[in-house]
Parts: sequence; C-alpha cells; structure tokens
Amino acid sequence: GAPVQADISKLEPGQRMTVEWRGRPIWIINRTPEMIERTESLSGEQLADPDSEEPQQPAYIEGGLRSIKPEIGVLIGICTHLGCSPLFRPEPDAEGVGVDNWPGGFFCPCHGSRFDLAGRVFNNVPAPTNLEVPPYRFENDDIIIVG
Ligand code: FES
Repeated sequence: GAPVQADISKLEPGQRMTVEWRGRPIWIINRTPEMIERTESLSGEQLADPDSEEPQQPAYIEGGLRSIKPEIGVLIGICTHLGCSPLFRPEPDAEGVGVDNWPGGFFCPCHGSRFDLAGRVFNNVPAPTNLEVPPYRFENDDIIIVG
C-alpha cells in the first residue's frame, strides 16, 4: 500500500485523530505534558513489555514513549490480542480507569486489555504485546507520512 499523509496542524493537545493505512486505523495522539509525564512514570512492574523488546515498532523508534517526538504518538489502532479496536480513554478519571492501576490510555472492550498512551500493554493482559507503531516520518511540523 502507498504511504498516507496526515495533517496534524489542527490536532489539539490531548486529542487523537485517525487516518487509514493499508486498511488499518492509524491513531495519531497529541500528548499533553501531563500525559507524557503520566506515561513516563509507569513502571516495568505494571507493563508487560515496557521497553518494547518484542519487535512491535521500527528500529528508529526508541524509549518509553515509542515515538519520534515526545508529544506525538503514532500507533496502529488494532488490539494485539484478537484484533478489536481499543477505545480512547486518555483521562485518569474515566470510567474503568484505575483497574489494575491503569491510568488511562486505550481500553479494548473485547477482552479487557489495557494500554498506556504509548500503546504499551498492561500486565493484566490478554494482549500478548504492545500495540504496533507503523513506519512514519515527519515531512514538516504539520505533516506526517505513514508507510
Ligand atoms: Fe482486545 Fe481481546 S481483542 S482484548
């Protein structure tokens, strides 16, 4: 499939947008400083694969935030368990948040997998791995090329 262009110029802090690439939803999240802090403060005890040792991302993606820029997260929006689409539940006071000390992020309604705002899966499983990060790059501050 051809690469797809995403214009993030109107993506407000705290918001998520979706584009389609190879028939799959690609989520782009504009993480606020508070969201970044919340994500970075999660410990290896809460996460199944905090350092993404399973190859669920391109080699140039490093660190706990799993992104090129700390504020902009790019993820394939498909649960790594059985392929449902997790819900965006970014706020720590949303319904269901707090279970297993999950602070919000993405919640899969099919079997209850929880992911943080970097797509890292919580220990409560059943998803076996973190969400995938697609190949992407910044054309400029406003345009991301996925693929
Ligand atoms: Fe997401 Fe099963 S498909 S938890």
